[in-house]
Amino acid sequence: MNIEVTDMRNERDDAFVASQLSAYNAPFAERDFKPLRVFAREADGSVMGGLLADTYWQYLEVHKLWVSEAHRGAGNASRLLLAAENEARRRGCKHAFLDTFSFQAPGFYLKRGYSEFGRLEAFSGKHERYYLHKRLDDTQDLTRDRRARLWKRSLPSPPEASFSSTIPAALRNIRVEDIPALGDLFHAAFLGTVDDGGLTKGQYALKATAILGGRYGAWLPEASWAIEQMGGLRSACLVSDYKPYGCPVIALVATAPPHKRAGDGGILLDAALASLTALGHRECCAMITVGNLASERLFESRKFLPF
Ligand SMILES: CC(C)(COP(=O)(O)OP(=O)(O)OC[C@H]1O[C@@H](n2cnc3c(N)ncnc32)[C@H](O)[C@@H]1OP(=O)(O)O)[C@@H](O)C(=O)NCCC(=O)NCCS
Repeated sequence: MNIEVTDMRNERDDAFVASQLSAYNAPFAERDFKPLRVFAREADGSVMGGLLADTYWQYLEVHKLWVSEAHRGAGNASRLLLAAENEARRRGCKHAFLDTFSFQAPGFYLKRGYSEFGRLEAFSGKHERYYLHKRLDDTQDLTRDRRARLWKRSLPSPPEASFSSTIPAALRNIRVEDIPALGDLFHAAFLGTVDDGGLTKGQYALKATAILGGRYGAWLPEASWAIEQMGGLRSACLVSDYKPYGCPVIALVATAPPHKRAGDGGILLDAALASLTALGHRECCAMITVGNLASERLFESRKFLPF
């Protein structure tokens, strides 16, 4: 046996290996591999944007998405992706996945309901590669039923003396031991809001565990604050340094119902923004569900603007 290493593409040999693998795979699942291509064309037929993908085994796999520079920023990439997702749904797909480099478009996909399930570092010594997934059969698809928007603000340099004038004594940084109390707080705070996903206290505690565990980038304990009350937390704000957004993100802020509209949210945000400024960050952002009025008002009051 000879091992041949080459930099030449040989279509016949490639096709042979692919067909042999496909024959091996055949007993395990249906043979339903199908290319999916979406093109945006000019009136003269020339391509100004395109998405190259495949569907198989109830998955949409997006390989490439590109829009010409002259047509960027006008929603064309979203239209291409939406068309691909809809066609994939029509073909019976329940999931979509793809990968994207840190210098490409992770933020674009995250805004469209994708979430990270893996990450590799040091491509070319410096770039991260994000692996993203989205359910296509989710009735609570963020981009369809609950559109979310990224809000941002810059941070003052040099730091403002203090963001809040009245800082309660019970304000302190969040600790890992707070996870069960965070589960209880989030459950109570989100109940009945547009962001109420029907999660249990345990599931909200898992969400807190995921944030503290780095699921949304390195958790920043110095910028994550809570206001205590007897036997639990009255309100809390979790901050992570999520690279795809290009700046730290207020991952979650919540106030227990009896204390809503009493200033806690503002105090926590002020504390988080002051800490981020002191840590040397120049910007901060938050992903806010359209229609979450309390959240929109809170972030507006702290000079965040839709991005
Ligand atoms: C969003 C939330 C954290 C606000 O917390 P809060 O402690 O009530 O906020 P504050 O009392 O500090 O209010 C901050 C500003 O928002 C305004 N605001 C808060 N809730 C509001 C509401 N329901 N309607 C209108 N304005 C509201 C306040 O008037 C205040 O503005 P001002 O400073 O100009 O007076 C709280 O409503 C909550 O826990 N919601 C559920 C969780 C959630 O949706 N979190 C955001 C997504 S992560």
